[in-house]
Amino acid sequence: MTAPGLPMEIPAEGLPTRVRIHEVGARDGLQNEQTVVPTEIKAEFIHRLTAAGLPTVEATSFVHPKWVPQLADAEQLFPLLDDLDPQRLPVLVPNERGLDRALALGARRIAVFGSATESFAKANLNRTVDAALAMFAPVIARAKDARVEVRGYLSMCFGDPWEGPVPVAQTVRVCRALLDLGCDELSLGDTIGVATPGHVQTLLAALNEAGVPTSRIGVHFHDTYGQALANTFAALQHGITTIDASAGGLGGCPYAKSATGNLATEDLVWMLHGLGIETGVDLDRLTATSVWMAEALGRPSPSRSLRALSHKE
Ligand code: HMG
Ligand code: MG
Repeated sequence: MTAPGLPMEIPAEGLPTRVRIHEVGARDGLQNEQTVVPTEIKAEFIHRLTAAGLPTVEATSFVHPKWVPQLADAEQLFPLLDDLDPQRLPVLVPNERGLDRALALGARRIAVFGSATESFAKANLNRTVDAALAMFAPVIARAKDARVEVRGYLSMCFGDPWEGPVPVAQTVRVCRALLDLGCDELSLGDTIGVATPGHVQTLLAALNEAGVPTSRIGVHFHDTYGQALANTFAALQHGITTIDASAGGLGGCPYAKSATGNLATEDLVWMLHGLGIETGVDLDRLTATSVWMAEALGRPSPSRSLRALSHKE
């Protein structure tokens, strides 16, 4: 029996016609790998992802190398990508030291990363929520002066492994603060994958009420409880057009042990194309890339679409 290579396209009402997938496999995915992946493999991964049509491929992080050893090769990796438009290659930057490193290499798109909860702010950034915002302020200001686009990630938007469910108002406050500091876009992180669709829609409505337009919100779901696609659909119904995903479902978070991988890009593309929503992504090329990466990492991908698509014959 031969499985279908493409989903049957049947649109649902009231959804966007085009979505920008913000690919995070090379950063969020790989940062969680225990064995250090060679820099050349990372560079090839990113080249293959861009060639598969992913418009934005988060490349690496300019963080303290002891905090995330897997990404300690940012200085070696970024120059290997100099044939690609740096607008397509956002990098994570927590502080001015990180910004200096990123700008020196020609990065043109950065992301700061805050937390809705105190516990994760301490674990991930060694600071309180507000001290982290204060650390980001000059980073964002300097990036804007240099006409570098800034994304503001917010982790633990729904639940936190130490603090439990996170009140919507608490998340809204930090989102608003990130936008007020000058972030162009927000990415709402469900770092440990506990969100459910009603919670997603409630948070999005509350953000709109706080003056945050839907067009400036992206969603970043991890799939720990199998809710990532359902949550994505809820976000689409709200009009969200920026969705983070990780090729092959790679990923997790080094400071949130219960987090599994991000929403797999293949699963996302399968659903979006089935809904008739344009992504610009070539699913065959993406699948081949994730199969290749799984081989390089020496273990199978958790993405169900990838498994189905790569066992066609
Ligand atoms: P700290 O220890 O408080 O840093 O860490 P510090 O400012 O006190 O500086 C201590 C030393 O680190 C100094 O060196 C600095 O120069 C150096 P010394 O003077 O002692 O020799 N240093 C740096 N070196 C290189 N690059 C830098 C840098 N900054 C300071 N950028 C810090 C604070 C923010 C640096 C640290 O906590 C850190 O690097 N954290 C990164 C954590 C991380 O990358 N987590 C994963 C990304 S977030 C995520 O995955 C969630 C997301 O996917 C969304 C979701 O799912 O929720 C985005
Ligand atoms: Mg993440």
